[in-house]
Amino acid sequence: MAVTPATRAWEELFATRARGGVGDAIADILALLAVPGLISFAGGFPDPETFPRERAAQLLAEFAESGESSAFQYAPTRGLAGPLDALAGRIEATQGRRPADDELLITSGAIEALELVAKTFLDAGDRVVVEGPTYLGALMAFRGFSAKVDVVPVDDDGLQVEELARRLDAGLRPKLLYTIPDHQNPGGVSLSAERREALVELARRYGFLVFEDVAYRELAFGDESLPSLWSLGPDVVVQAGTTSKTFFPGVRLGWAAGPAPISAQLVSAKQNTDQCAAALGQRLFEEYLRRGWLDEQLTASRALYRRKCERMLAALDRSMPAGAAWTTPTGGFFSWLSLPEGADARLLAKRAVEVGVGIVPGTVFYPDGRGDDHVRLSFSLVDEAAIDTGISKLAELL
Ligand SMILES: Cc1ncc(COP(=O)(O)O)c(C=O)c1O
Repeated sequence: MAVTPATRAWEELFATRARGGVGDAIADILALLAVPGLISFAGGFPDPETFPRERAAQLLAEFAESGESSAFQYAPTRGLAGPLDALAGRIEATQGRRPADDELLITSGAIEALELVAKTFLDAGDRVVVEGPTYLGALMAFRGFSAKVDVVPVDDDGLQVEELARRLDAGLRPKLLYTIPDHQNPGGVSLSAERREALVELARRYGFLVFEDVAYRELAFGDESLPSLWSLGPDVVVQAGTTSKTFFPGVRLGWAAGPAPISAQLVSAKQNTDQCAAALGQRLFEEYLRRGWLDEQLTASRALYRRKCERMLAALDRSMPAGAAWTTPTGGFFSWLSLPEGADARLLAKRAVEVGVGIVPGTVFYPDGRGDDHVRLSFSLVDEAAIDTGISKLAELL
């Protein structure tokens, strides 16, 4: 029988790397947004209350009236000069070191920075170390280039750097180590100051690149802030950042800061992903920063997320059965729930949707099927008033 388009199994033509078991977990989480009435602890989405609607409208009107064309035009691949300058200034103000012009590029979200770094460094079979659990977008990026992913666990002080040192000493030779040092996704924990220093020293000693993701760095509930890895080791660290959690994700804007030769290669790789990050978002963000509006928004956002987090932790305290435990975040969007003995995270997630609650099973945050005894709880998007009900429904299921 002739093969017609209707009967063709297109998967047979897919490239090997597309069959790498990357999965659809991100798409599945995004789809939960559309489920009406769901009390969602699932996605790491910002609360729409933080969106700068009026100010964004004001800026758009200004761009239109002033006759400026840069906001509406293609941009240089590295980014527009003004937004790059404003972003470098922000990084200097918050991290104590200003990236040089050839050390910084603007990306289409942090997720593109992940893709560019993976594309630049990874051949099939190359080794990448991630912390376990870790951000699933990073797992997808590394797996998408057929890397071998090794897991080093986290504890309440973040990545277990002593364990990493032991593994390196025993012969592990990764090209990259990916870590989220501040208010980690999904663990809600942060890397201690001593471990930050030690990690940078290990990178120098063993010659691997630390890939630091600072997605939640500016969302601490208090004023404390530890040095970024990139500020400690600009010679051995590439930092990926995003404006999605602090400004708004609709602009899909992020950055990569790192050693000039790497930065040049990322710019080169970017030419055939999106060519340039959207100029409109770059200009909106630049103006937002220069007028001090980001700081104002952050003050309100931190207070909002802190309140939601405290409410969720109190609800967990009240209703969770014996044997359950959870992390106590000092910022960010997440707490990591350990289930009582015998509970199955995937089954729990399925049953939870049936009773109107969204959660993400821990398995998607590991490359190897671990995590079945954990669940990620995100408090960022869920309606404040619904937190108590959502958590008590979960507790009942358990
Ligand atoms: C740790 C981490 N990195 C990166 C991203 C992606 O950010 P962006 O929206 O800029 O692509 C997220 C979003 O959930 C995240 O949690």
